[in-house]
Amino acid sequence: MRNGVIAIHRDGTLALTNHEAYRIFSIPRPSHDVGRAFSEVFRERSEVVRALASAFDLTTLPNRVELRLRDLDRVIGYTLSHVRDDSGTVIGAVMYFKDLTQVEQAEERERLRDRLASLGEMAAGIAHELKNPLAGIEVMAGLLRRQVPESPDAQSLLADIISEAKLANAIVVQMLEFVRPIRLQVERTNVPEVLHQAITMAENKAPRGEVGVSLTLAPDLPLVDGDQHQLCQVFTNLLTNAFEALGGRGQISIRAAVEDVHQDPAFVPTDEAETSVTPTMIVDVADDGPGVPAELSDRIFDPFFTTKSEGSGLGLPIVRKIVDAHDGRIDVTSTPGAGTRFRVTLPVSSATSVFK
Ligand SMILES: Nc1ncnc2c1ncn2[C@@H]1O[C@H](COP(=O)(O)OP(=O)(O)O)[C@@H](O)[C@H]1O
Ligand SMILES: [Mg+2]
Repeated sequence: MRNGVIAIHRDGTLALTNHEAYRIFSIPRPSHDVGRAFSEVFRERSEVVRALASAFDLTTLPNRVELRLRDLDRVIGYTLSHVRDDSGTVIGAVMYFKDLTQVEQAEERERLRDRLASLGEMAAGIAHELKNPLAGIEVMAGLLRRQVPESPDAQSLLADIISEAKLANAIVVQMLEFVRPIRLQVERTNVPEVLHQAITMAENKAPRGEVGVSLTLAPDLPLVDGDQHQLCQVFTNLLTNAFEALGGRGQISIRAAVEDVHQDPAFVPTDEAETSVTPTMIVDVADDGPGVPAELSDRIFDPFFTTKSEGSGLGLPIVRKIVDAHDGRIDVTSTPGAGTRFRVTLPVSSATSVFK
């Protein structure tokens, strides 16, 4: 049974329950449960005990209620029913429930995506509106400069105005690039091909110097449902950062492999174990450069965070945005002094069939 079930007698003793119930509640199944007081068996889940006990006080029972198990960070949806004898007297109650956590997480992600999309639209609007006045300032300061050729002080102030306006404009342009909503052109994508392309692109963006690049591909890598161009951007940005971190000497190793990722068993009934294995592509980009200091590792994905004098701080945020759009993950592990590894995890097929 996919659902958890708990049935109790009128006197509060447990009549029946199943493994799924214990799994959803993360409590071990005791050797004797049937016949014991259910409030005792499930005492660690007092909110559930309360909900089920209320069945005897209610005449109309709730149909599909959501209950958040705070300490487990889990959400269940439940239904209560009465059990009656032939004369219609209520002799027991049943709670059917289902773990909604994964459903809920998917909805949360969706909501976040919507919110970011509208924020992005607003930012894009503002950036666009700023472009014209900034261009105006730059042009007019240039005109004014020609009208005061004899005043060196005015010349120098106007030169500052122009260069500041140029800087502001560059920020606006980058921001437009960053907030532009992502539209994926999903096709069957050959990841090794993308990686080769990305190496070439990164070499054009940052000097490679003496840096060695090794590419290790697991045999029989499947094609991935993804946007070839944008995935190329992901690895180009990671490799560019690695080249920049290495400063002309060191080693970059890129590895691609496929792993069967098992769903958290707490979320998937055992009898469905086969369907819960999803093949996942894992691509590691590792360098033996200086690493990311532990106190900065939370911030490197923040827009505009950079430790480079000429950096935009948008490389990794763009990586994250593209990987998210592919329902993937990006993780970083770094040992200061020893190197940095970025791990991109992508679902091989974007068709998710875990929750219907
Ligand atoms: N491979 C790496 N090794 C060390 N530090 C890195 C690496 N990749 C990224 N970083 C750190 O993350 C910061 C943000 O990277 P990114 O978003 O690409 O912006 P930028 O490259 O313009 O600085 C970098 O400034 C750097 O401090
Ligand atoms: Mg970068």
